[in-house]
Amino acid sequence: MKKIIIAIDGHSSCGKSTMAKELARQIGYMYIDSGAMYRAVTLFCLQKGFFTGDILDRKSLEKEIQNIRISFVKNSETGQFETFLNGENVEKAIRSMEVADKVSIVAAVDFVREAMVKQQQSMGLEKNIVMDGRDIGTVVFPDAELKVFITASPEIRAQRRWKELIDKGEQTTFDAVLSNLAKRDSIDSSRKDGPLRKAEDAVVLDNSHWTLEEQNQKLLELYRERC
Ligand code: DC
Repeated sequence: MKKIIIAIDGHSSCGKSTMAKELARQIGYMYIDSGAMYRAVTLFCLQKGFFTGDILDRKSLEKEIQNIRISFVKNSETGQFETFLNGENVEKAIRSMEVADKVSIVAAVDFVREAMVKQQQSMGLEKNIVMDGRDIGTVVFPDAELKVFITASPEIRAQRRWKELIDKGEQTTFDAVLSNLAKRDSIDSSRKDGPLRKAEDAVVLDNSHWTLEEQNQKLLELYRERC
């Protein structure tokens, strides 16, 4: 079978990661969650005290950006890839509301994007990779053999995300999650570098009313068509 790159982009909380992960598992590909990389840089900024409210100390971050190493390590018990920041497992910490609230600010910084895109491109050298994010089909891998753009209505996305957070024991409301999503959609779509945008040759999937099974089936079909 031909080795390919699969780029999955789309809005926040539309189930991209779940779909991308499942596809990678089924076809034996490496899965990279590029959003986790921006979240890890955000956690780094929070830990170092680079934020004053929503104001980021860009100068301090720029000095440190080359010292931020992000990697993905497979957990042998769950079989899932987990995110490591400078050798420390941060998979849980990067999913908090505190990180979610600041990540779009960090992801809009040009030198952060440049550093992350470089790391992502080197992860794709061997192909056999499923990567999800916002600019994978447009900037990171413009020649990817399969590009998919996933979306769903804001209310359905917020409902899914809210349930995920509550199940993990986070204290938050549906309205707070909906407003965080709206804020992130707006910053992600309007930034200058690598904005959230559908690649011209991407297949669009609106999964508002699809079951996980149906979505996975559709992705598998698309993959088989390209191989
Ligand atoms: O997919 P996610 O919600 O975990 O992404 C976290 C943030 O990172 C989101 O606000 C958008 C940003 N992001 C990005 O700018 N580019 C990517 N390739 C992936 C995520």
